[in-house]
Amino acid sequence: MPTAAQRIIDKIREKPDAVIGLATGSTSEPLYAALVNAYNESQNTATPLDFSNVRFFTLDEYVGLSKEHAQSYHRYLHERLFNHINARPENIRIPDGNPADMAQECRDYEAAIKRAGGVDIWIVGIGENGHIGFNEPGSAFTGETRKVKLTESTRQANRRFFDHDISKVPTHAVSVGLGTLRQHAREILLLASGQKKSEAVAAMLDEKVDQHVPATMLSTVRDRVHVFADEAALATYHARQQAGRGVAAGL
Ligand code: GLP
Repeated sequence: MPTAAQRIIDKIREKPDAVIGLATGSTSEPLYAALVNAYNESQNTATPLDFSNVRFFTLDEYVGLSKEHAQSYHRYLHERLFNHINARPENIRIPDGNPADMAQECRDYEAAIKRAGGVDIWIVGIGENGHIGFNEPGSAFTGETRKVKLTESTRQANRRFFDHDISKVPTHAVSVGLGTLRQHAREILLLASGQKKSEAVAAMLDEKVDQHVPATMLSTVRDRVHVFADEAALATYHARQQAGRGVAAGL
């Protein structure tokens, strides 16, 4: 199977104005490093990679942080990807965490995704509690872009980025909805790394759909989802499969 980076590169070569959805978080950092590397290495070849017509949407942003804040997703994406490739600023959409009118910002974001004709490939990560973007447990599978309240477990999980000081972790975010992904993402690449994601990944790969584990929404669009997970993230899933086989064999 090609890597997630290769899948994006192939898409851009086939469709130079592809629409790509991006995630933040530590799991996607190697993906962005691989894209930047491929971009740099291709520049002196006959077929340089060209991001100038690629249109980008991103999943989410914290509410209340300035764009320049070290932990804003605006900054994350510029520092890890956009500043190093020839993406054009007018082709980059990141939800605004401090808009004058949040409801309008969310409507505009949804409308921009529709106007772009949907998203060819959307990269998503997964939270320890199974969240996708910032769609926390209980989020409707039909939800659109909106302001959301972060759960305590997500704030604790992300505390490491805020000097381990929970009081510095924003309480709210703006996130595209699970419905946005279902309706507008033609392909979803889910990245998961590490043992902490193992329960959430197992729940997602299980056939059962459960609104309290947002990632299980992906089961409803299974034919459009590709999972890129390391062994540690797959550990619970594999253990359950083995146990299941034991039961089936009457052991
Ligand atoms: C964050 C982001 C998600 C991300 C997830 C996992 O809170 N909002 O988009 O996928 O949680 O992050 P990490 O890869 O750092 O574990």
